[in-house]
Amino acid sequence: MRKSVIAGNWKMYKTVTEALEFFSKVEFAGKTDRVETVVCAPFVALPALVQETKASGIQIGAQNMHWEEEGAYTGEISPSMLTALGVTHAIIGHSERRAYFAETDESVRLKTRSALDHQLTPIVCVGETLEEREAGRTRELVREQVVAAIRGLSSEEACRLILAYEPVWAIGTGRSATVEDATDVIRFIRKSVADQFDQQVANEVRILYGGSVKPDNIQSFLDTEEIDGALVGGASLDPSSFARLVEVAAQRGDLG
Ligand code: PGA
Repeated sequence: MRKSVIAGNWKMYKTVTEALEFFSKVEFAGKTDRVETVVCAPFVALPALVQETKASGIQIGAQNMHWEEEGAYTGEISPSMLTALGVTHAIIGHSERRAYFAETDESVRLKTRSALDHQLTPIVCVGETLEEREAGRTRELVREQVVAAIRGLSSEEACRLILAYEPVWAIGTGRSATVEDATDVIRFIRKSVADQFDQQVANEVRILYGGSVKPDNIQSFLDTEEIDGALVGGASLDPSSFARLVEVAAQRGDLG
């Protein structure tokens, strides 16, 4: 059985002090061994959060990284800078980065490759805009994004991936995809992975849903075997709502 993942994406929210405050208010004990629980925080908060969460089983992730080891790339952060801190995950190709910071399928591929080379778990985001969905292009687009990201990986590397299906129109809008739509696209993503590698790899890759996931709708997504967890923005900023998301996912582990 694939281990469920709850990953918070804090985006550009919380100072270091606020980030530490979050963890002083939240109790995850006993749940994080059943759920891969990750908080992807702004770069400046990463060192403090890795220290703060050491004994908790919570893992700390970045929201982006450069693919090079080092170099003249003003303003960028390298994968080895992250691993040196104890960071374990990195979100790659979030739609906000694709839309506002010119991330392309090619930069997503380079970053995914580099994260895996550095033993970081990439959480690779894919998803269509509303316009693309309405034009009936969801599958085509999502497949393109997935194939671009995993091209050239070995089967062993592909198994370490986490993919996140995040329809752009569902992010931060309060309008989540229906469970049926999310399941349908995620099943299709798994098939795309199987076509690139084989069924065994496809069975191991974790695929999350993201887009307006909240404590009151997460259960319905996790009721579907196909969906391995959630990438959560807004609802991950509040300690009690994030703890609730982890709790629901942990109960799922109990049933499995
Ligand atoms: P949201 O964001 O949960 O606030 O919709 C999800 C994301 O951007 O990863």
